[in-house]
Amino acid sequence: MSEPQRAKALKTLCRDVANCTQCEELAKTRTQTVFGVGTPMARLVFLGEAPGADEDRLGEPFVGRAGQLLTKIIEACTLAREKVYILNILKCRPPGNRNPTPAESANCRKFLREQLRIIQPEFICCLGAVAAQNLLETTTPIGQLRGKFHEFEGIRVLATYHPAYLLRSPAAKRPTWDDMKLLMKEMGIELPDQN
Ligand code: URA
Ligand code: URA
Repeated sequence: MSEPQRAKALKTLCRDVANCTQCEELAKTRTQTVFGVGTPMARLVFLGEAPGADEDRLGEPFVGRAGQLLTKIIEACTLAREKVYILNILKCRPPGNRNPTPAESANCRKFLREQLRIIQPEFICCLGAVAAQNLLETTTPIGQLRGKFHEFEGIRVLATYHPAYLLRSPAAKRPTWDDMKLLMKEMGIELPDQN
C-alpha cells in the first residue's frame, strides 16, 4: 500500500476505534480513545500498554512523563517520533491506570492487528511486561523476554523495559539501552559510537 492508502486506511480504522463501546467500563470512563501516532510507513512500531491520564486528555500515546522519556530514547536512536509509529495494546485508559483485563485486551486486539496489517512494520519494540506478554501471549517475565528477538506474524519483536519503570528504577536504563542498540543494529541504523 502507498503512504496515502495507508493513511486513509488508518483514518477509517481510527474512526471505528473512536466509536467502539465493546468494553463498557472503558467506554464510559474515557475522555477519548487513543489510536496511535507516527508515520504509516514506519519500519519500527513501539507498543505500550494503555493510555494514562495525560494520553486520555490529549488523545496521543506516550505524551506524559514516561512518554517524554520514550521520546528521548527514540531520539538517542537517531530517530524521531514522526519516523516511527507509537501505539498501545488498549486504546482506552483503564480507570486508575489498572492493568488491562484479559477481556479488554482480547476486545482491542482486532484493532492492533489491523493497525499492524496496514503499517506492515519490520520491527515491534514492546515497552514493558504488559505489552510484551500480551503481544506474545506468554507469561514469561520481561527480564527474560528482553535482550533477544521474538516473532509476531512475520514481524520481528524485541521487548524491553517500560519507560515508566525506568523512571522508578534508573538501573534498568543500561539494559534498556543495550536492547535499543541491538534493535538499531538489526535495523541497520548506525549509532554514534559513544556508549
Ligand atoms: N504508558 C503506556 O503504556 N502507554 C501510553 O500511551 C502512556 C503511558
Ligand atoms: N515490570 C513491568 O511491568 N515493566 C517493566 O518494564 C519492568 C518491570
